[in-house]
Amino acid sequence: MTKNTFTLTNNQTGDTYEYNILEGTRGPSVLDIRTFFADTGMFTYDPGFTATAACESTITFIDGKKGELRYRGIAIEDLANKHTYLETCFLLLNSRFPSEKELYEFDLEIRHRAFLHEGLRHLFNAFPDNAHPMATLSAAVTALSTFYNDHIEMNKEEEYLEMAHRIISKMPTIAAFAYRHSLGIPFIQPDIDLGFTKNFLTMMRAYPGGKMHLCTNGHEHIKDVEVRALDTIFTLHSDHEQNASTTVVRGVASTGAHPYVAISSGIAALWGRAHGGANESVIAQLEYIGSVDKVEAFIERAKDPDDDFRLMGFGHRVYKNFDPRAKILKGLQDELREELGLDTELMAIARKIEEIALSDEYFVSRNLYPNIDFYTGIILTALQIPKSMFTPIFVIGRTVGWITQWIEFKKDETSKIARPRQLYMGE
Ligand code: CMC
Repeated sequence: MTKNTFTLTNNQTGDTYEYNILEGTRGPSVLDIRTFFADTGMFTYDPGFTATAACESTITFIDGKKGELRYRGIAIEDLANKHTYLETCFLLLNSRFPSEKELYEFDLEIRHRAFLHEGLRHLFNAFPDNAHPMATLSAAVTALSTFYNDHIEMNKEEEYLEMAHRIISKMPTIAAFAYRHSLGIPFIQPDIDLGFTKNFLTMMRAYPGGKMHLCTNGHEHIKDVEVRALDTIFTLHSDHEQNASTTVVRGVASTGAHPYVAISSGIAALWGRAHGGANESVIAQLEYIGSVDKVEAFIERAKDPDDDFRLMGFGHRVYKNFDPRAKILKGLQDELREELGLDTELMAIARKIEEIALSDEYFVSRNLYPNIDFYTGIILTALQIPKSMFTPIFVIGRTVGWITQWIEFKKDETSKIARPRQLYMGE
C-alpha cells in the first residue's frame, strides 16, 4: 500500500526521516517539513523560494506549465471577458460573485469612500516636484493608516470588509493625486457620478471643475473603449498568488502591523523592475531602442551572458509556457489597434522584438515569453497615461489582491511570524 509520506535519508549518518505529503485541491503536492529543524538540526536552503510553499490559500491558483490563472476557481479569461474589475474585487473578497443588488451597493460604497481626508491631501505638498508617483503612493498609503488606527484590531467580517473597501476606493485617488503633484497641477476630486475606472481616468486627465480638454470642436471625452481597456488591465492585475510583493504584504501582516502599512510595503516591493516596475521599463526600453532596425542588436545584447541588458517584459518565475494575462492583452491590443491609434513606431519595435524572441533558440529554450508587462505599456500609452503611472496602475489593480491575502493571513490560525533561516558563511 502506498503511503502519503516522503522519506529523507541523511547519507552522513544513515538516519531516515518521514514527512507527510499534503495534497492541495489543484497544483503540486507539498511536503510538510515544519518539524525538519527540530528533527534533524538542519535548515532547508531555497533562496528566492523557488520550491517553497509558505502558506495555505484559497484565493488564486496558477498552473505555470499550462498557462492557467484562476481567482477563486474562476478562469482569468472569463473574468476579463465577461466581468468588471469591481465584480472581480467582490469575488476575491467574498469567494463568490455579487448579486445585482450587492454589486450596485458595492459600487456605491466604493464611489463614496474615494475621498481623502483633507489632512492627507496636504501631505502631497511635502514631496518635491518630479517625485516618482510610486514613492509618493507608498508614503501616502502609510500616512493613510494614521487616519484609521482602528483597523489594527479587527475581529468581525464587516470590519475586515470596511477596511478593504476603504483602501480599494482610495487608491485611485491617491495615485491620481501623486501624479498631479508630480506635475504641479491642481488635484481633481473624485466624482461620485462616475464608476471606478472612469473616475480614475477623469482624476488623471480632467481640468478643474471636472471638465475635459477643450478643443476647437468641443470637449474631449473619455471613450467607453478606454474605460473597458483600463478596467481589463485592473482585472488582470487583481491578484497573482504568492509573488514578491504579496509575500512582503504577508510578511508585514505576520508582525501585527497595520494593514495599510503592509500595503505600503507591497507598493515598495512592486516598484522594482523585476516585478511591477517592468511595465515602465518596457516602454523606456522601446524608446531607448528607438527604431525597428536596431532591434536585432539589442536581442544579441539580451542573449550575451556578459551583458546585464535584459529584455523587459520577458520571462516569468512561474509561467513557463505563456502568461495568460499577456495573451488576453495581446488580443485586446489587436482589437483596439484602430480605435486607440496603436500603430506607432513603438508598437512596430515591440512587434519585431516579439517576433524574433518567440523563435530565437535562446528565448525558446529558457521558456522566456512576453509577460503581462510587455503589453500593458502600449495600451496605457494609447490611453494617454505617462510611463511613471504604469506601476501605480498595477498598484490600483493589485490592492484588492494584497488586502484579500492580508485578511486570509490574519484569519489563518496556523500563521506564524515570517522568519527564514540562513546558511552562515561569515567569520
Ligand atoms: N531577457 C534575457 N534573458 C532573460 C530574461 C530576459 N528578460 N529573463 C530571464 N532571462 C534568462 C536569464 O539570464 C537566465 O539565463 P541563464 O540560464 O543562461 O543564466 C534564465 O533566463 C533564467 O532567468 P532567471 O533570472 O533565473 O529567472 P527568474 O525566474 O529568477 O526571473 C524574472 C524571472 C521575471 C525576474 C526575469 O525573467 C526577468 O528579469 N524578466 C524581465 C523583467 C520582467 O519582465 N519582469 C516582470 C515579471 S511579470 C509581472 C509581475 O508579475 O511582476
